[in-house]
Parts: sequence; C-alpha cells; structure tokens
Amino acid sequence: MMTPSLRDMAEGDTAACAVMVCASLVGERYGFKPDSMAAVLRNALASGSELFVAETDGRVAGFAWIDPRGAFSSAPYLRLIAVDEALRGAGTGAALLAEFESRTAAVGRDWCLLVSDFNEAAQAFYARHGYVKVGVLPDFAREGIAEVLMVKKHGRQALAN
Ligand SMILES: CC(C)(COP(=O)(O)OP(=O)(O)OC[C@H]1O[C@@H](n2cnc3c(N)ncnc32)[C@H](O)[C@@H]1OP(=O)(O)O)[C@@H](O)C(=O)NCCC(=O)NCCS
Repeated sequence: MMTPSLRDMAEGDTAACAVMVCASLVGERYGFKPDSMAAVLRNALASGSELFVAETDGRVAGFAWIDPRGAFSSAPYLRLIAVDEALRGAGTGAALLAEFESRTAAVGRDWCLLVSDFNEAAQAFYARHGYVKVGVLPDFAREGIAEVLMVKKHGRQALAN
C-alpha cells in the first residue's frame, strides 16, 4: 500500500475532485453533476474553506473538505470526502480521515460527520476508524434519505476489524 502525500487543494484540482464525487453512490443518489460540483468546490476554495487532496504517484487520488468548527459551531465537521473510484481500497480514504483529525485535533472537540443511510460502505469505513452512530436526521438533505450523524470521541482508538 502506497502512502499518499497530502496538500491543500488548488483550483486546478476541482474538476477531477468533482468527478470523484459524482462517480459515487452519493453522487448518483443526489444527482450531482461534475460541472456544478466543480463550481461548488471552486466557490468553497475562494471563500477560504479548508480543502485538501491526497496524491499518489503525482496524481490526485482523493480529497476532503473540512470545517474545523462546522458541527454545531463548535466541533470539527467532515463535510465531504471522496476517493477516485479506481483507487479505492488502497488507504487513501484512511489518510484523508487521519488528516482531518490531525488538522482539527487542537479544537479539542469530538469529530463529526453525516453519512447517508444508503451509504453502508462509508458507514463501515467510518466505524472501523472509531466513529459511532449517535443519531439519524430523517429527510435531512433530500426527502426519503436520512443522514446518519457519526461521532468520534477524542482519544477513542480505531476499532479492530
Ligand atoms: C468512503 C471512501 C472515501 C473510502 O476511501 P478509500 O480510499 O476506499 O478508503 P480506504 O482504502 O482507506 O479504506 C476502504 C476500506 O474498504 C476496503 N476495500 C477494499 N476494496 C475496496 C474498494 N474497491 N473500494 C472501497 N473499499 C475497499 C479496504 O480494504 C478498506 O478496509 P479497512 O478500513 O478495513 O482497511 C471511498 O470509498 C469513497 O470515495 N466513496 C465514495 C464517496 C463517499 O461515499 N464518501 C463518503 C460520503 S459521507
């Protein structure tokens, strides 16, 4: 397994990152389109949001968009994470999640994220990294889809497989 290198996202990365989101179950179910998703990422960068990418072999393999106090205006929030479909299962997601946690550790609050009810693979991925389901928000972003709130306590170890 190759360890990816991490760096801040640049505007030139946004198109490729948008494709990663759209070519996923989440992208399909929410109907995201690459052009509009790329515009969302560009606007986020322009407004000073924190986005970073993971590179393997000089190529962007995945990215994350985080907000250090985005959960309840107090706790670190993982807003979006996606890995190139062809490169999943190689540790890129784990590296991005670890970067989210290390960049926001000093906030001193539990790490939070929302994951769609249908996205069982992502829920299992987060659970393996110590996130626990603490609640469900029915019809939160889209009618008929619930968002699961998952939280990792400061100091909780990743669960064994
Ligand atoms: C969730 C996601 C970010 C994880 O990224 P990743 O690079 O595959 O993550 P990792 O390689 O670190 O871990 C994936 C796990 O699934 C296993 N796996 C094996 N083959 C896999 C494959 N083809 N695809 C995904 N996971 C696979 C890995 O072994 C690993 O298991 P482990 O945690 O026990 O080690 C990625 O699957 C993704 O982009 N999904 C689509 C977008 C999405 O759902 N984002 C989350 C929205 S809340």
